Amino acid sequence: MNTVTPKGIAAIVFTAEEIAAATVRLAEVIARDYASEPVLLVGVLKGALFFTADLARALPDSLDISIDFLAVTSYGNSDRSSGEVRLLKDMSEGAEGKHVLIVEDIIDNGLTLSYLQDLIGRRHPASLRSCVLLDKPYRRRVDVKVDYLGLTCPDTFIVGYGLDYQEKYRNLPYLARLEPWVFEG
Ligand code: PRP
Repeated sequence: MNTVTPKGIAAIVFTAEEIAAATVRLAEVIARDYASEPVLLVGVLKGALFFTADLARALPDSLDISIDFLAVTSYGNSDRSSGEVRLLKDMSEGAEGKHVLIVEDIIDNGLTLSYLQDLIGRRHPASLRSCVLLDKPYRRRVDVKVDYLGLTCPDTFIVGYGLDYQEKYRNLPYLARLEPWVFEG
C-alpha cells in the first residue's frame, strides 16, 4: 500500500476509519427503515462513487437492494459551484413506484440535491429520501431535506473518497484539505 502523502495535501480531515464508522452508522438506520420494503439506491456520480459502494456493502444481506447511478455536475474544474446543475447521465431504470434513496457524497450550497429531489420526485416514486455522507452547512442557498447525514465538515474545500479538485485526488481513501498553493495553479 502507498503510504506517501500525495502532493498538495495539507492535512487529513476524516480518516478512512472515521468514514467507515460513519457509513456503518448510516447503514444501521437505513436498514431499520427499509426492513420491509425494497430500496433503490441512486448514487450521484462522480463524487458518491465510493460512498455508494461502501454504503451498499454495509447494508445487511436481508435487505432487498437495487443500485443505479446518475451523474450531475455544478463545479466544473473550479473549487466554486457555478450555481447551475447539469444532468450528465440519467438513471438507467425508472423511479415510478419505487422506494428511492439518493446517495450523495456532500451537500454544500444544496442546489445539486435540491435539483435531484425535484427531478426524481416528479417521476412518482413510492418514496424519496436522501443520504449524504458529508454536510457543509455554511453556504446553503436552498433549504433541502436530508434524511440520513453522516459527518459535518469544517468550512474548507476537501478532496478524497470520491471528491476531486480538477478531477484529481478522488482515489484517496481519506478526506483531506489542500495546500493553498494548489488553487493558485
Ligand atoms: C459535487 C458533489 C455533490 C455536489 C454538492 O459534485 O459531489 O454532488 O457537488 O454541492 P452543492 O450542494 O453545492 O450543489 P460536482 O458538481 O463537483 O461533480 P462531481 O461529483 O462529478 O465531482
